[in-house]
Amino acid sequence: MRQATACLVVLFCAVASAQPIDYDRVEEPERSYRTEEKEMIEVFTPSKPIGQVSGIAINANDHIVAFHRSNRVWDEKSFNDDETFNKALGVIPNATLAIINREKKVIDEFGAGLFYMPHGLTIDSNGDYWVTDVGSHQVHKIDAKTQKIVMSLGEKLVPGEDETHFCKPTDVAVAKNGHIFVADGYCNSRVLKFDANGNLIAQINAAFEDNQQPSEFVVPHSLSLIEDMDVICVADRENQRVQCFSTGLSEGDRHVPTGIPITSANDIGRVFAIREREHYLIGATGDSEDVQAQMFSIDMQTGRTETFAKGLGESHALAIASDGVMYVSQLEPSRLLQVRLI
Ligand SMILES: *[C@@H]1O[C@H](CO)[C@@H](O)[C@H](O)[C@H]1NC(C)=O
Repeated sequence: MRQATACLVVLFCAVASAQPIDYDRVEEPERSYRTEEKEMIEVFTPSKPIGQVSGIAINANDHIVAFHRSNRVWDEKSFNDDETFNKALGVIPNATLAIINREKKVIDEFGAGLFYMPHGLTIDSNGDYWVTDVGSHQVHKIDAKTQKIVMSLGEKLVPGEDETHFCKPTDVAVAKNGHIFVADGYCNSRVLKFDANGNLIAQINAAFEDNQQPSEFVVPHSLSLIEDMDVICVADRENQRVQCFSTGLSEGDRHVPTGIPITSANDIGRVFAIREREHYLIGATGDSEDVQAQMFSIDMQTGRTETFAKGLGESHALAIASDGVMYVSQLEPSRLLQVRLI
């Protein structure tokens, strides 16, 4: 079903699968992310101080939503040896979500008294927020209107590896039909798929291309669901690769089971964040022994990979605005960056 593909550094390796992506269904992108374009990187300082931004997203109004840790930092006192959170620290009493307009003004804040150690953030097609809390080992849905938690997966503060527990989940992606993909995360290194009611329906296992390649994820840190291509991509951070799989979401004749390997990019550095816009997968990597921190783009229709923002390290999360401007959060130093290709 799949053929061995030789992969060079920063080369996108297309792998033949039972049912390849139907490119006729996807629209031509309006812009491209290329190295021949120069990038402009600016520090983006919100009008009001916020904590370390672990997750970032763009809402329907093209505002930046930052999921941040307020005064909390992740250090050696945060977790016990058994991965449980240090309960003496309690919840973060202050707001952990900030909505910031493109002019840097903080226009709304919420999420106080709910989270222990914020991590991932995504916004679903209805505009509702989904977050992961590595402290409580949970995934939560927050209603955008009421700003209240309306659904939680995982048992609060109890790490585990079964169908109803996570251990430091890193990211979440949600399909239009309500199916939920969870990257679970720092300890379990697995990717799970749940139905809209939170029942486990599938697990996505790492693609095993040849004996040179690790056969399991090591810290899946970010997910990007490209629903119109029927693809979910996993930033397999410590294996320094991105792997993309069938989502199992399409119905009828087009149905492909969940988790068939579609494409991958290998040896691209420690990938902290991936997000998609107009069928470009944009990523941010951290420094590793072999590869300098940078950003990359993969044209999901041709597989062409480009790199930019070379040397931009410490990136944790990434979001792309409707005009293609990218927002990157760094933890150390704690700041947001605006990255524009010009
Ligand atoms: C947290 O909220 C309290 C009360 O409103 C405020 O005094 C304090 O400055 C806030 N701390 C942070 C880090 O935002």
